[in-house]
Parts: sequence; structure tokens; C-alpha cells
Amino acid sequence: MRAPGPGLPYDGRVRRSLPRSTTLAFLLLVAGGCRAVGRPGEGAVPPWERDNPVQALPTPPLGMPIVFARARGVEVTAEKVRLGRWLFFDARLSRDGTISCATCHVPALAFSEAKPRSTGIGGQQGTRKSQPIVNAAFPLAGVYFWDGRAASLAEQAKGPMVNPVEMGNTHEGVLRTVAGLSGYRRAFREVYGDDRLEIDRIADAIAAYEATRLSGGSAWDRYNAGDDAALTAEAAAGMEIFFGRGRCNACHVGPNLTDGKFHNVGIGWEPPQDGVRLGFQDLGRYAVTRDPRDVGAFKTPTLRDVARRPPYMHDGSSPDLRDSVLRYFEIAANPWLDPAMHEVRIFPFDVRPLVAFLEALDGTGFEDAPPRSFPQ
Ligand code: HEC
Ligand code: HEC
Repeated sequence: MRAPGPGLPYDGRVRRSLPRSTTLAFLLLVAGGCRAVGRPGEGAVPPWERDNPVQALPTPPLGMPIVFARARGVEVTAEKVRLGRWLFFDARLSRDGTISCATCHVPALAFSEAKPRSTGIGGQQGTRKSQPIVNAAFPLAGVYFWDGRAASLAEQAKGPMVNPVEMGNTHEGVLRTVAGLSGYRRAFREVYGDDRLEIDRIADAIAAYEATRLSGGSAWDRYNAGDDAALTAEAAAGMEIFFGRGRCNACHVGPNLTDGKFHNVGIGWEPPQDGVRLGFQDLGRYAVTRDPRDVGAFKTPTLRDVARRPPYMHDGSSPDLRDSVLRYFEIAANPWLDPAMHEVRIFPFDVRPLVAFLEALDGTGFEDAPPRSFPQ
């Protein structure tokens, strides 16, 4: 937090009734950079600002000892997060005003979606499962999308607006819409010092909002913090397998349980039939690098809040956690399979404990609901 914003009244009416000494203190605060509340006497704060006040940055939850100053590629400030929150939930950013980021990134589902593949503007089908957005600004390796084609959250955010099967807009179209709303211009001034509208600023603000969607405090985190009773016996057994002979942590590693790297674990592989070569419909990382070793390789997903967001895998082909874990027993061998997969040792009787462990990764800290109103 750089501004003393939180705790201050946002409603002009409250301010006008304050005693003189408080008013003086308030003026000093305003001079000190607290622009969120506007100048005294400027009149009522717009309803959308009251509905979405500048708030202190969240306290990192247990097990996610993040420092906002170290968010990858984005400076996270309270004012910027507020602006990004509007933009993230604002369907006016799409060509026909029907699709926002939150259409496919639903807060209650750890900002993922309950469908194997996303549906965008005009009912068009995408080809991949919507990824979750939790702890997303604090990965071990900063790459985004299943194939890692974006190098930062901000770069990522520019994609969906112009993706013809997602929001179907143009960057010029987005800028026209946002610049046409004085409420937004005021918010951009507050954050960037002037109201120059650029797609990079829009993406930057969205990235700052995303950076505050944290997840921690799960049963696993509480167990790690010394609460032996936090995990059931079955989940604890699953944890032993996960970090032991299962070797799941060859890829699902660190506080986010992902190395942020690309691996072929056999998902989407169709073995040749009747002499017809099938293979991978979605080539994954290979389409970005053209490195033959990357065929069928996808970014290791975080496993935080994994139970909240079936179906699973880049193609949404795995309906539930039980099925996902079984994929590591019946591995789809293919020429590009990641060597680490040969070290995974699990058996059908490991499935229940592993699923119990995965269910113990549901955390808190990311919850949100759309703002009640938007800048006009
Ligand atoms: C029509 C559905 C849809 C919309 C709208 C949408 N997304 Fe996505 N999002 C997806 C899908 C599907 C993926 C995975 C795409 C891929 O890998 O090619 C994804 C991936 C992401 C990722 C990558 C996460 C990671 O760990 O790599 C982020 C972040 C993200 N979206 C944020 C946004 C933002 C911000 C917006 C709005 C500007 C948005 N999305 C709009 C469906 C959508
Ligand atoms: C070689 C690296 C690697 C190893 C080892 C590994 N995983 Fe994965 N995991 C991945 C990748 C990559 C994906 C995404 C695959 C895809 O969609 O093509 C994935 C996906 C998953 C998913 C689905 C998550 C989602 O959001 O869709 C679950 C659950 C999972 N893994 C659990 C496990 C368990 C349990 C183990 C150990 C038995 C394990 N993984 C071992 C790399 C690995």
C-alpha cells in the first residue's frame, strides 16, 4: 500500500460532516497522494468507485509467502488493482459486449471454468481448457498459456481481447470503448498520472488485479505449518506418494506445485490406427518453439484448488481427479513422452490417497465477485 486509502471514507457526505481538525488532516493526506477520494468539495464519489473502493493489497495466505514487490513483470498498487478489477469483469471489452475475462475465468472455480473447452463470442468453441488464475504472478518460471506463448501476465491479457473465438475485438476497439467512458479515464489518471489510453496500460492493470488472486491456507499448508491434524490419514498417505515414489514433484514442485515448464505426459495422444498416423492434434509447446522435443508438451498446471475446477488437462479430456491420477498409471506412451514419466511409480491403490491429497490443496485468498457497477 502506498496511499493511506483504506479506512478513509469514500462517501463525500461522510466527509462534509467531519470536524475542522479532521478536515485539515484529510487535506494533508490528499496532498500526500491519496487521490482515491478526490478533492474535498468535488461532489459525490461515483457509485462504481464506492462499489469497488481502493483496498489494501491482500495479506499473503499461509504457505504463499509472496511479496507483491516481486510480482513478475507488473508493479502491483492498490489503485491499479481496483482499475484492473473493473476491466477483468467488464464485458464491454468484447466486440459485442457479451464476454469478459470472467466469462471463462470464474472466481469460484479458482478463475477457471467447468467446461472442457471454452466458448467465446458468438458461441464459438475454443480448443483448450481455461486455465486457473491463482498465484499467477509468482510462478517459478514466468510463462503463460498451456504452450507458454506469453512471457508475462500483461502480455497474456492482450491476447483474449483480440482472439476471434474469445472476445473477438481489436485493440483499437477496446481503446475506443474504454476511452469513451470518463469514469475509466479518471481511474487511469489516478493510476498512471494521465488518462492516455494504451492497450499496454489496460493489460498492466488487469495483470495487477490477477496478481492479487492468491491461494494458500489449504489443509496442506496448515500441515506444513505444523498442524498434524490438518490432513486426514488418507491425504497424508497421498502426500507421501506424491513427493515419494510417485515422483509427482518432478514437475509439480514449489509452493504452486508447478515448475512452469513443459512436459509431454501423454495427454491427447492418439496412437496410429490401421496404418494411419494420428498423434497429437494439439502440438502444444512445439507450435511455439518448433523444437521436436516439445511435441505434445504442455505447461505443468498448478495443483492448487485443483478439486474446484474439473475437467482437467489442456484439452479438458479428464473428467475428474480420479481419472487424472489414473492417467499416470496407464501412461500413454508416445515418442515424445517426458523422461521423468518413466520414474513415476503409482498403482491403482494409490489413486484414493492421491485424490485425497489433491483435495487438500483447496485454499483461500482468491475469492471475488464481479463489481456491482462499472465506470461510465
Ligand atoms: C472465451 C474464454 C476466455 C476468455 C474470454 C478469456 N480467457 Fe483466459 N484463458 C482461456 C483459455 C482457454 C486459456 C488457455 C489458452 C491456451 O493455452 O491457448 C486461457 C489462459 C489464460 C491465462 C494463462 C494462465 C496460465 O497459467 O498460463 C491467463 C492469465 C488468462 N487466460 C487471463 C485472461 C484474461 C486477463 C482475460 C480477459 C482479458 C481472459 N483470460 C479471457 C479462456 C478465456
Ligand atoms: C513429467 C512431469 C509431470 C509429472 C511427473 C506429473 N505431472 Fe501432473 N501434469 C503435468 C503436466 C504437463 C500436466 C498437463 C498435461 C496436459 O494437459 O497435457 C499435468 C496435469 C496434471 C493434473 C491435471 C491438472 C489440471 O489443472 O488440469 C493432475 C491432477 C496431475 N497432473 C497430477 C499429477 C500427479 C498426482 C502426479 C504423480 C502421480 C503427476 N501429476 C506427475 C506434469 C507432470
